[in-house]
Amino acid sequence: MSDDKKSHNEHYETMVVHGDHVLDPATGAVAPPIYPSSTFAFKSADQGAELFKDPTEGFIYTRIGNPTTHILCDKIAMLEGYSHALTFSSGMAAIHAVITAYAGSGDSVIMSDTVYGGTNALCRNTMPRLGIDFRWVDCTEIDDVENAIDDTTKLMFVETPANPTMKVIDIEAMSKICKKHNIKLVVDNTFQTPYLQKPKQFGADIVMHSATKYLSGHGDLVAGLLCFDKEDFEPLFHILVDTGGILSPFNAWILLRGIKTLHVRMDRHCENAQKVAEFLEDHPKVDRVWYPGLKSHPQYELAQKQHTGHSGVIAFEIQGGREAGKKVMDTVHVCTLAVSLGDVDTLIQHPASMTHSSYSDADMAKSGITPGLIRVSVGLEHPDDIIDDLKNALDKI
Ligand SMILES: Cc1ncc(COP(=O)(O)O)c(C=O)c1O
Repeated sequence: MSDDKKSHNEHYETMVVHGDHVLDPATGAVAPPIYPSSTFAFKSADQGAELFKDPTEGFIYTRIGNPTTHILCDKIAMLEGYSHALTFSSGMAAIHAVITAYAGSGDSVIMSDTVYGGTNALCRNTMPRLGIDFRWVDCTEIDDVENAIDDTTKLMFVETPANPTMKVIDIEAMSKICKKHNIKLVVDNTFQTPYLQKPKQFGADIVMHSATKYLSGHGDLVAGLLCFDKEDFEPLFHILVDTGGILSPFNAWILLRGIKTLHVRMDRHCENAQKVAEFLEDHPKVDRVWYPGLKSHPQYELAQKQHTGHSGVIAFEIQGGREAGKKVMDTVHVCTLAVSLGDVDTLIQHPASMTHSSYSDADMAKSGITPGLIRVSVGLEHPDDIIDDLKNALDKI
């Protein structure tokens, strides 16, 4: 599609398929080209010097910018509704970049108290060594959030729905607080993807993704993304270029391919997960199910406002705690016993001993990560097969 043929009133699904990619002018290739080149020749010494003054005007060196990753940046920025995006070697590299871009020694950061275990480890163990004070708050409690903020606070980081308990945070309410105190609001949108939740509409300044998950969708790469408007470009770009945690052009290309089917996959993840969640909720050996599409979810009303679907991750607690959970995970065979989420394959795991094992016992208890909690990322197999597999495993405890 050439630029003049592009409509700006396209449906979201059309944007997911086409993105901002203009057909390769040299060949007409419909799939974007992969540019593996680490370096790019200058037309003259003067042009090289000019590019170093403004690297966004062309290509110099792949750590600074690459044509394939730029296609991905344009696409994800457009899908999230921002003007800019940057790609990172992993979700963790993206989180590290956004925190170091805005907070340094003597500053504080408000952290939602339930986040992915790797984010917890980064912000409890590694980053405090730089002199940053991380303040862990239950962001469903507005007064607690307000009370945690002072003049040193530069950033708020929330993950919603939270991994693994599916706690939903009110982005609009957080944004109002952040704007009042002149704090950047960062939302980890990994679980929802822009197809099901657009944090910008609710006032988020920056959206972060572990694109390893639903955006890629096939469990075949590790990648991170940040989406934001122009004013945030300089600080984030410099951290990426200086620390070098870039995404390779090849992985950018796989991710572009994955995103083309995002809407179709996400619709089916939502449909399958709703069926599995309803099955689990009715099962006599299951004590509690956490899925924002169930009326029993504590933030069900908020989830209806903030999501257009509830994605594919479910947490549930079974009778018999940790030992019973181990039995279930060792019995299933349609579900794969593995960490990560958002793949076409259904993945099942035990947060307390696996993804969230970086939490102290006290922090786990505060965040609701109980010893008996199991997390399942519902894939795209036939839902009856997933349900039969879980039923068979639950019958054995
Ligand atoms: C919600 C969330 N954020 C961030 C990350 C980290 O991403 P990555 O593993 O791509 O570094 C994960 C990984 O599981 C996650 O689930």
